Amino acid sequence: MDGNGRWAEARGQIRIKGHQAGAQAVRSIIEAAMRHGISILTLYAFSSENWKRPATEVKALMQLLGTALKEHARELNEHQVRMRVVGDHSALSPALQRSIAAVEELTANNTGMILNIAINYGARPELLQAVRTLAAEVAAGRLDPGQISEGELTQRLYVPDDVDLLIRTGGEFRLSNFLLWQCAYAEIYVSPVLWPDFDEAELIKALRFYAGRERRFGMISAQVQAQQCAKDD
Ligand code: FPP
Repeated sequence: MDGNGRWAEARGQIRIKGHQAGAQAVRSIIEAAMRHGISILTLYAFSSENWKRPATEVKALMQLLGTALKEHARELNEHQVRMRVVGDHSALSPALQRSIAAVEELTANNTGMILNIAINYGARPELLQAVRTLAAEVAAGRLDPGQISEGELTQRLYVPDDVDLLIRTGGEFRLSNFLLWQCAYAEIYVSPVLWPDFDEAELIKALRFYAGRERRFGMISAQVQAQQCAKDD
C-alpha cells in the first residue's frame, strides 16, 4: 500500500495524514474485494523494516492499526470475513497484541473472504521461522529430513497460500520482502496511483489486467490451452 507519504506531502500535510487517508482506502478496497469475489486479500500494512522510520511515524502507524482493528472488527465479522494478522506479533505492544487476538478469535470460524493484514511482516523472517520450526521438528525426531517438501514448508509460513495477483501502488517496481515464496507465480500489477487514491475503479483495472494474463506455470501456451479445453468439456 505504497504512496501514503507522498500523498500527504503533495498536500502540504504531515505523513501520518497520508496513512489516515490510506486507512480509508483500506476500508473501501476490502468492501470492493468482497463484491468482486476475491477469496483471500493480503494487505501489507507494516513491514519488519518499517521500524526504521521516524519514531513518531511508527507510533502513529501502530495507533492507527490498533484503532482500525477495534473499529472494524464487528463489521468484518458481520460480513463473515476471517481476519488473520500475519507477521511476528511478539514485537507489538501488549495492547495491540490483545486487539489482534480478539479480532482473530471473533472471526476464526467465518466462512467468507480471508483478510490477512501483514504487520511486522517480512518474507525472509517468515521463511526463517518456518525453517527453524522444521529443524526443531527434525531434531525432536518428529520429521524426517527427506519428508521436507514444498508443501511442508508452505504449511509453516504465516501465509500458506499462493498469490495470484500482486498489486503494488505508488509506482514502485519492488517486492519489498513481501510474500517472496508465495509470489513464485504471481502476476504483478504496478499502479502509479498513490494508495489513498486507489479505489474500486483502480482495483477493477488490476483485475482486468489479471484476467488478460495467460498463466503458464512453466508450460507452453498450447499446453495451457489444451488444459483449458479439457476443463471446459
Ligand atoms: C507505505 O507508504 C505505507 C505504509 C508503510 C503504511 C500502510 C498503512 C496504512 C494504509 C494504514 C492503515 C492500515 C490498515 C490495515 C487499517 P509510504 O508511507 O511508504 O508512502 P511513500 O512511498 O509515499 O513514502
